[in-house]
Amino acid sequence: MIYEIYPRSFQDSNGDGVGDLNGITSRLDYLRDLGIDAIWITPIYPSPLVDFGYDVADYTAIDPLYGTMADFDRLVSEAKKRNIRVIMDFVPNHSSEQHPWFKESRSSRTNPKRDWYIWRDGKGPGEPPNNWQSWFGHSAWQFDPATNQYYYHHFYKEQPDLNWRNPEVRKAMYDAMRFWFKRGVAGFRIDAVSRLFEDPDLHDDPIVPGRNAYGDPNILHKYTDNLPDVHEVLREMRRVADEFPGSRILISEADEPNISELTKMYGKNDEVQLPMDFQIADVNKLSAPDFRRLLDEVENNPAGGQPHYFFSNHDQPRQWDRYGDGVHNAQIAKLMAALLLTPRATPLMYYGEEIGMRTTPPARKEDVQDPIGKIGWPEEKGRDGERTPMQWDKTKNSGFSSAERTWLPMPPSAAEYNVESESRDPNSILSFYKKVLALRITEPALQHGSYVAVDRDNPFVLSFLRKNGGKGNSILVVLNMSGAPQTIKFDLASQGIKESSAKPLIAAPRLGPDAAVLAHFTIPAFGVFIGAVH
Ligand code: GLC
Repeated sequence: MIYEIYPRSFQDSNGDGVGDLNGITSRLDYLRDLGIDAIWITPIYPSPLVDFGYDVADYTAIDPLYGTMADFDRLVSEAKKRNIRVIMDFVPNHSSEQHPWFKESRSSRTNPKRDWYIWRDGKGPGEPPNNWQSWFGHSAWQFDPATNQYYYHHFYKEQPDLNWRNPEVRKAMYDAMRFWFKRGVAGFRIDAVSRLFEDPDLHDDPIVPGRNAYGDPNILHKYTDNLPDVHEVLREMRRVADEFPGSRILISEADEPNISELTKMYGKNDEVQLPMDFQIADVNKLSAPDFRRLLDEVENNPAGGQPHYFFSNHDQPRQWDRYGDGVHNAQIAKLMAALLLTPRATPLMYYGEEIGMRTTPPARKEDVQDPIGKIGWPEEKGRDGERTPMQWDKTKNSGFSSAERTWLPMPPSAAEYNVESESRDPNSILSFYKKVLALRITEPALQHGSYVAVDRDNPFVLSFLRKNGGKGNSILVVLNMSGAPQTIKFDLASQGIKESSAKPLIAAPRLGPDAAVLAHFTIPAFGVFIGAVH
C-alpha cells in the first residue's frame, strides 16, 4: 500500500501556512498505525512553484520551503524505523525555465546546452513551428526573442521540455536518480513519462471537433505522446534502479488509453514495476460491469505485471465527489476503500481519502492558486480543490498549521471529517480503512491470493474471490454498487468452495446473522462484505 502525500498540505511544522518535511516526519506514527508500506511525496525540489514543484530548478536539492537535506535524511531514517519506504517524485519530461541548464540553453544558439531542450524555428514570422498544444492550454511553443527561436513545452511555458534524444541529458537525469537512491529512497514515481519524446519531423497533430476548456480547438496528441522511444528510457531507468540493493521501485504516471499501452510499461519486467492504471481511476461512476471488465483486463495483462491503481490524486477531483451520490457518500467512501484495498494489486491512496476529504474548489477566481484554474476559469477551476490541507483535528486550521492563513483554506467539512474525531468512532471511514488495511496483513489471501471474479453477470454487485493457494482462508468480497439492496445466489462450488456460508470479517453496514448464506446472500444498498470462505 502506497500513500501519496502532497507535502504543501500534509503538516506544517514552522507556522508558514505550507506543509514541510518535518511536518511529515511528525506524522509518521499516524501513517504506521494506518498500516501503509510506503509514502510517495510529490516534488520537494527547489522550484519557482509555477506548477507547485513540477517545475524543478535543481534535481538534487530540497526547496528551503520544505526544509533541508538533513530534514530529508531524518525523514527517510525515521520512516525506515517504522517500516515505511520513501518514494520521490521524478520529473524527467521538463525542468523549470529557472533551471541553470535552461538558462544556459536559451543564452545562445551555440551554447553547449542548447540541444538539452527542444528549439525550433517558427513557420514564419509570429507563427509557431506547428499546431502542437500544451496540455495546460494554447500553443506548446514559446517564442524566445533572445535567439529568435521557439522552445517546446508540453505543460506551462515555464516548464521547457528536456531533449531526451541528447545522451548528456540522459546521463544527467540518471545521475540525479542515483543521488537519491544513495540517500535511501525506495524509488520514484516518474511524472508524465509518456510525453518524453516528440515527432522529430514536427507533423501537425490531428484536429478533432469541438474546443477545450481553454478555448483551443481539440486535438489528438498523436505526435507528442507515447512515442516508442519512451520504452528505451524506461529500460535505462530500470537498470539504474537495479544498480542499488533492496528492490527499488519505479512507478510511471501515464494515463494510457488502453490496457495494451499500459502493459508496454512493464516491458519484459525490465521497465517499471508499477504503471498507474488510469483506466480504473477514470471510471467515474459506480458501475460493477465497468470495474469488473477493467479489473479483469489488468489482472490478465500479458506482461504478467502487478496491477497498480488508485482513485484520487493531486490532479483530479477527490473520489468523495466523483463517486458519492450526495446522500450516501460516507457509505460509498467505504465501498471505494474496499474496492481499492481488496483486489490483487499494489493500491495507491491519496492523503485524506481515509477520512472522506472532499474536493473544495476556490469560490472566486482571485483565490485560485493553480494556474490552469486562472486560464480556464470558470469551466476549469484548477486543482486547488483536491489539494487542501489535511484535516487532523478540531483545533485552529484543523491541526495542520499555526499560521494565520494557510496556503489554501481549510475546507468547512474539516469540523466533522478529521482524524481525531474519526479515530474515536468505530464506524467512521477512517476506522474502516484501518480495519481493511489490517486485514490485508492478517489474511494472506488478500496479499498473495489470485483474483477471480464471480457472479459475473450481475449488473449491480461486483463480487470476487481472493483464492488462497495454500491452506488458509480464501476471501469473498461483495460490493453493492447500487442504491438498492441486492440478493445473490452464489455458486462457488466450481471454485472449490465447499461451505455454504461465508464467515464475515468486515461488513458495512453490519449484516444480520444469516446474511452470509451463499445461496441467498443479501447485501444492503452500497454495502460492503468481506468474508472468509473454505
Ligand atoms: C503530472 C503531475 C501534474 C503536473 C504535470 C506536469 O501530470 O501529476 O501535477 O502538473 O505532470 O509536470
